[in-house]
Amino acid sequence: METGPIGVFDSGYGGLTILRSIREIMPGYDYVYLGDNARAPYGTKDFDTVFEYTLQAVRKLFGMGCPLVILACNTASAKALRNIQQHYIADCCPERRVLGVIRPTAEIVGTITKTGHIGILATPGTIKSESYVLEIRKFFPDCHVTGLACPSWVPLVESGMYDSTEADGEVRRQIDTLLMMDKDIDTVILGCTHYPLLEKKIRQFCPPYVNIIAQGKYVAESLRNYLERHTGMAGRISKGATCRYFTTDSVDMVSKKMSVFLNKNIVVNSIKLEK
Ligand code: DGL
Repeated sequence: METGPIGVFDSGYGGLTILRSIREIMPGYDYVYLGDNARAPYGTKDFDTVFEYTLQAVRKLFGMGCPLVILACNTASAKALRNIQQHYIADCCPERRVLGVIRPTAEIVGTITKTGHIGILATPGTIKSESYVLEIRKFFPDCHVTGLACPSWVPLVESGMYDSTEADGEVRRQIDTLLMMDKDIDTVILGCTHYPLLEKKIRQFCPPYVNIIAQGKYVAESLRNYLERHTGMAGRISKGATCRYFTTDSVDMVSKKMSVFLNKNIVVNSIKLEK
């Protein structure tokens, strides 16, 4: 049987936070990471555009031999996943799969909160889609969910300013606003895969009683669980422990930034996404 790598897709750098967690617990598989950095951010784009871009990326990853693609992007998971699963996959390639990052997070958050009040920090697109509210309600109908869009956070990460003091004011302002919207919030989901890069600052400006949930660990555990239950799919993934990186933007710039983030030198290749 032909085997291929797991595809991991994000609009830019954020999906690396998911890839890292997945590779930590499943280092033996092969992976391909695709960042659409040239067209990031997705979080401020309309539904149809995010759907179209995400579909282009999924097609490309399938074309590279990936039997399974993870949308390591909440915005794409919120705006494109269901459509891709129900139409494109069902019609064109029923033997392949695409999974998102919202459900694995929604499934566990009710077991972490004590007050039952949950805050979501995410892109405007994810907040507007109400995907978190709907998904969390399925598993924990008694929880209160309050979402806040943070439109300036992805640009801070994509421009490499996530460690700078310029980011402080933006991060503090959004945290204060969210906690004012519901004073009983004790658990905050970082509902954008870019935000863990700001986690140090987010923790600094959050009161210590607030649990901060970065998705990597939960998405990785959920994927491991999925592959244990779907042994046919697990058997179709190649096991050479490699990872290749692709970007739609300048390879020199992205290689440098991804190397800093991953703390090792990596070579990023150029890729084009089109209709
Ligand atoms: N990292 C993505 C997410 O999880 C998208 C960020 C963006 O491109 O706006 O939503």
